[in-house]
Amino acid sequence: MNAGDARVFALPGNEDLAGFLARQPGFEAGTLQCRAFADGETRLRFLDPVENRDTVLVCTLDRPDDKLLRLYLAASTLRELGARRVLLLAPYLPYMRQDRAFAPGEGVSARQVAGLLSRSVDALVTVDPHLHRIASLDQIFSIPTRVVAAAPWLAGWIAREVREPLLIGPDAESAQWVSAVAATVGCPWRVLEKHRSGDREVRLDPVALGGESGRRQPVLIDDIIATGRTQIAAIRLLREQGFAAPLCVAVHAVFAGDAATALAAARRSS
Ligand code: R5P
Repeated sequence: MNAGDARVFALPGNEDLAGFLARQPGFEAGTLQCRAFADGETRLRFLDPVENRDTVLVCTLDRPDDKLLRLYLAASTLRELGARRVLLLAPYLPYMRQDRAFAPGEGVSARQVAGLLSRSVDALVTVDPHLHRIASLDQIFSIPTRVVAAAPWLAGWIAREVREPLLIGPDAESAQWVSAVAATVGCPWRVLEKHRSGDREVRLDPVALGGESGRRQPVLIDDIIATGRTQIAAIRLLREQGFAAPLCVAVHAVFAGDAATALAAARRSS
């Protein structure tokens, strides 16, 4: 390590990824102490000097509301301590599905959160953000951003572990991930038509997926599993069509509420 190495700090829960990054050339581990005052407010303390150093905050942002404030405090503190630059490594970028005002009186939270992050840090690295009506992060961030694609890793796993896969995306947006993975694996893929009428109300059009592909192992691929209801609807559709129980693969396993148990139960009972 040398004085030019970037110091890497983990926000709580991100220690493994921060540790991995800190072991790479050009990085050095730093310690961020994070605890709560008796009234629940956050107390942060950086235990390593950062003056004139590049710094990295590692903080994935699922269940983001509390984490965003902590991140803002951490980034502001680094700047006050004289850090040269503050880079945010946030594998999951939140609020990206709120990319338009869906009802009168709503704002566009994707834009608002991107504005907050752009003011808080100097650059962002994330993994496959949910881009739909917003085509690229540059449209909403005013800082440099870099997107890491999960497709090569998903493809590598599927190629190693699954014989004769048929990749299925549950909705039109998933085509971007499913097609990229299928191109690398060299297997067929399909995309379903999804209708969501509530957080947990998801319906998929009953398109026929069988034919040539009917004997293959279905693999559901999506960017996010939040409530799990999209995956559950897809599992049911596939089982109704006589497929084997599908494998469920996602980039961001957010698993809100009962998602993990509901998904496991749907797969068992299908
Ligand atoms: C939606 O547009 C995303 O690509 C996912 O399909 C969605 O976030 C999954 O949500 P849930 O698990 O709540 O059905």
